Amino acid sequence: MAAASASSPTALLLLLLSCIAFLCSSSEAYDYPPLADGLSFDFYDATCPLVEHLVRLYLEQAFGNDTGLAAGLLRVHFHDCFVQGCDGSILLDGSAGGPSEKDAPPNLTLRPAAFKAIDELQALITAACGHVVSCADVAALAARDSVYLSGGPDYEVPLGRRDGLSYATMEAVLSFIPPPTSNVTDLIDLFGKLDLDAYDLVSLSGAHTIGIAHCASFENRLFPAQDPTLDQTFAENLYLTCPVANTSNTTVLDVRSPDAFDDEYYVDLLNRKGLFTSDQGLYTDARTQPTVTGFAVDQSLFFEKFVYSMTKMGQLSVLTGDQGEIRKNCSAINAVDDFLWSVVDGDGGESKLL
Ligand code: HEM
Repeated sequence: MAAASASSPTALLLLLLSCIAFLCSSSEAYDYPPLADGLSFDFYDATCPLVEHLVRLYLEQAFGNDTGLAAGLLRVHFHDCFVQGCDGSILLDGSAGGPSEKDAPPNLTLRPAAFKAIDELQALITAACGHVVSCADVAALAARDSVYLSGGPDYEVPLGRRDGLSYATMEAVLSFIPPPTSNVTDLIDLFGKLDLDAYDLVSLSGAHTIGIAHCASFENRLFPAQDPTLDQTFAENLYLTCPVANTSNTTVLDVRSPDAFDDEYYVDLLNRKGLFTSDQGLYTDARTQPTVTGFAVDQSLFFEKFVYSMTKMGQLSVLTGDQGEIRKNCSAINAVDDFLWSVVDGDGGESKLL
């Protein structure tokens, strides 16, 4: 009798709920910045309580097949938020109306696998809950799980973003996605335009603890002459990857622990093994050096500040309430009928499968 009840649907549901409760309570308590109007940590509690669980389960499996996907998803969220706010506009494909954000040069190295994963997640979530979760929120949750499942902090994500109805121009992308050749003054100025400070700059750059870069992103440090701030052995290895200018080879961003979300990126900077001018500058510039050193010696401090800065970044110019829409397919704006439904459905409303 006991065995029969343990395998009953009710028992399985209870087991699932207790797993979810465990997952929810497993995130450590971090400090968060004030939440943007319209966003909340429990936004989908009534309409899609399993959403975070679905994203995590899907990504746990997906990262098993493709470790680099975590870095790809983290970068997509950054490129979404810095240009026109976290509105999922980076996810849109181009149309007859013109090229999309994806087609702008800084976005050409975003991973197709990351866009595919977000599309698949949205389909999964819609099948479970109906048409209630925005693609911008899926991207934010996927970024958090990329951090956590790579060994980084598990933190809460404010939810309730709505999806934008248009993508940004190429000029906007070029103005807000910083090139890797940027110096610290350029970066502080750009981050300042988004109300992010030098501290946010250093903590968010710590995302370069995972992932890869193409030679084109750092060959300014190799050709025509070697950047004197590069560690000599590190430079010699980079020349092996990029023997001449204009190759399409890649190397890892954090030479000490390429796939682990940890504070080793900052140790790289102390050892003059930062890959981009924009990375190494954080240690050579007196304004940011103390923060780099602080993170290099204290990973918990880095995690704490990273969570705070990511939450700030994740709330940039968000659309909420009846703005924008809940996109059905993350790569395309809804057809007119879908748009009307998603406005009627609104936030926190009853879920409807369209
Ligand atoms: C501070 C200014 C930043 C600059 C100049 C910068 C620049 C770049 C560049 C040039 C690449 C490599 C592109 C390639 O050659 O394939 C890259 C990769 C990456 N960036 Fe940044 N980035 C910055 C900030 C950020 C932030 C704030 C995040 C996330 C919070 C981030 C996450 C990543 C990740 C995870 C990768 C690896 C992507 C992959 O392996 O697919 N970056 N970044």
